[in-house]
Formats: sequence, structure tokens, C-alpha cells
Amino acid sequence: MLDLRDKRIVLGLSGGIACYKSAELVRRMIERGATVDVVMTDAATHFITPVTMQALSGRPVFVNAWDARVPNNMAHIDLTRGADAILVAPASADFMAKLVHGRADDLLSTLCLARACPLLVAPAMNREMWAAPPTRRNAVQLRADGVGILGPGSGSQACGETGDGRMLEPHELLAELIAFFQPSTLAGKRVLITAGPTIEPIDPVRVITNRSSGKTGYAIARAAWEAGAEVTLVSGPTALDAPYGVTRVGVESARQMYDAVIAAAPGNDIFIAVAAVADWRVANIASDKIKKDDHEPPALEFVANPDILATVAAMPNGPWCVGFAAETQLLSKFAHEKRLRKGIPMLVGNLAQHVMDADDTTVSLFDDAGEHPLPAGSKQDVARLIVRAIAARLPARHA
Ligand code: C5P
Repeated sequence: MLDLRDKRIVLGLSGGIACYKSAELVRRMIERGATVDVVMTDAATHFITPVTMQALSGRPVFVNAWDARVPNNMAHIDLTRGADAILVAPASADFMAKLVHGRADDLLSTLCLARACPLLVAPAMNREMWAAPPTRRNAVQLRADGVGILGPGSGSQACGETGDGRMLEPHELLAELIAFFQPSTLAGKRVLITAGPTIEPIDPVRVITNRSSGKTGYAIARAAWEAGAEVTLVSGPTALDAPYGVTRVGVESARQMYDAVIAAAPGNDIFIAVAAVADWRVANIASDKIKKDDHEPPALEFVANPDILATVAAMPNGPWCVGFAAETQLLSKFAHEKRLRKGIPMLVGNLAQHVMDADDTTVSLFDDAGEHPLPAGSKQDVARLIVRAIAARLPARHA
């Protein structure tokens, strides 16, 4: 997924053991389509070599303001002018202090001062350094100056202590960077999403379930977080990791999903039902494993599961609801009918056989105004379009 295609990023490294994570970060940024210019402080070169960063970025690495490779001796200007953002990772306590005071005594601090693009910093330091009053003040001042502070995370530290101040992991920084370039169309909103299949027990070892990878629901959860929302993802069993920044509530059966959603729904502005919920559960669940040796094939009796989406849609003052329909034929007809039957303002429809398990998808939106096909693309790109369409339709009460 080329989430950072056409983006030019200056990745700055100041001195800290977390420099080792920046080697992985630069790789991941490039995989996503970014062009990365690495600039290191002298202290950073004690933790990781410019050769390593040059090999991984595929571009010259700059350390020295007097670098003879820059013909006009204006590396601090040239490097930032074409950049979409500067990300300083790791940002040491000392480097944060320098930024606050507008110091410009090395190439990285000079180009941060001379920048004409946004600046993000990923602090990395011992927990006492992060908690120290000067660093607290500096973090407040940097935010006031419009600098984005990513993290830090919490946990065990290279010094052997445990607490706040760890640099975010490369995949977390990558998610933050990608989100930085997305429009904040759902800032301050709370979004509840269901995803994946449900599984319904037959006996203690057997289940029936629906085919669902969860990819679309997880992509929408990620896109909603990128758009600035606080996201809760109620998910049946999938092989996917929870998207960074999203709170996942794991469930198995439709009734568990129903309970989790009904409890959470009143506190949310938007509900997006992506899950492939089992329509029926087994009424006569066996308490012991059904033995195949001494039994005829079991006769299963079914009972209908509650319709989670229709229940939330009927809540007075409930969240603004979006449904999904995976059909195998007559998509427009069935999608229109389903939207009206569920009593929801918007439904996303697709042809199941084209998108099941795939990484790409093609969907249409259905609302009062009719059918609106979206451009085909990766599930993540389409999820971003769906999130923007939801944000654009959100009525005043929710907006
Ligand atoms: O009723 P049907 O399964 O065709 O509708 C699909 C939509 O309804 C999806 O958004 C799905 O997540 C939701 N749904 C639900 N609870 C059910 C069945 C479906 O929320 N029991």
C-alpha cells in the first residue's frame, strides 16, 4: 500500500539508543512510497552509522552543515524546501530543548528552524528525563509552536528502568505519519465499528461461522482513527492485528457482539456495521462433544440472532448508522431494500464474490439520493473514501 506515495520526508535522528528503530522506520517509509532524506546529529552517529541509514534510504545522508556535497552550502535550506514534513525520531531531551529555543548550531537544528514544512518529533529518553519539569515545559511549548509530538510510549527502557519516554515503535510512527497526511474529517468524533465474522457453537469443539477476513472493517477502523476519531472496534475472530490507536473488543458469538455494541452505542456518534454476523445460532448446543461414532449426523435447530444494526438504528438519539451489504447478485436492488429495511441513512454495498478475502475492493454507497459508485482500490484507500463520505453526510446533531 503506497500510503506515502509522492511524499518527501526529512527523517532527522538525534542522539539516543532508539536510533536503532529508525533503521526499520526508514525502510517502512520507503516501502510505502516515500522519498526519505536522512539527517543525523553528530550524537546520533554514535548510535547508528550514516552508512546504515544511507544504504536503507538509498540516498545521501547529511550530518554536517559544511557538507561539500551541497554546492551552494545551503543544505539547511535545500533539504527542507521540497519536503512535505520533517520527522525527528528519535528526538532527545536535548534536541527538544534546542527546538524550543530556536538553536541552530548543527545541520538538523538549523534545518528545523529554517523549515517551510510541518515538524513532527518522536521523543525518546529515560523516564525521569521525560518527566523532568524542563522537558514538560518544552513539550508544552513545542505543541504551542505547532510541532506535532508523537508518543512517547511506555514500557521497559534501554537503561533498565520502566516508564514513559520510549520512542514509539516503527509501525506506530509509520501509522502516525500516514495519519498526519490524511484530512481530519472526524476530529473529536467517537466511532463504533463491528468487523469480522461471528462464530456460533454447535458443541464445545465445533462452530458454524461466516466467511469474513475482517479486512474491510479493520481498514475502516484505521481510516476513522486517521481522520481523528476515537475508535472502538468490536471484532469477531480474525487473523488481523488491531490497528494502531484503535480500541479492540474481541467477541465470538453474535450475541456477544450484540451485548458489546448495545453497551457502547449510546456514547458514540457513528456506528458502522461491517461484521458478517451469523443470522442464526444453534438452539440445541450440545454440552459435550457430539461423537460421530455412535450418532447419526446431528440435526441442528436454529434460532435467529438479534439484528445489531437495526437495533442501534432504532435507538432514540443513537449514533448515525452505516450498514454493509455483501450480495452475490442484484446489488443495487438488494442494497436499496436493505437500507430501508434497517432504517439507516447510508449503506455500503459490494458483490461478495469479487472482494472476499481480497486486498482490493469495489463498493457503491447507497443513500436517500441513490447509488454512488466509489473508485475501486485497496481496501485501505476505499475505507478512507467511505470515511470521508460519512463525514460529509453527518447531520448537524452529530457534526
Ligand atoms: O441483514 P443483513 O445481514 O443482510 O445486513 C447486513 C448488515 O447488517 C451489515 O451491516 C451487518 O453488519 C449488519 N448485521 C447486524 N446484525 C445482524 C445481521 C447483520 O448488525 N444480526
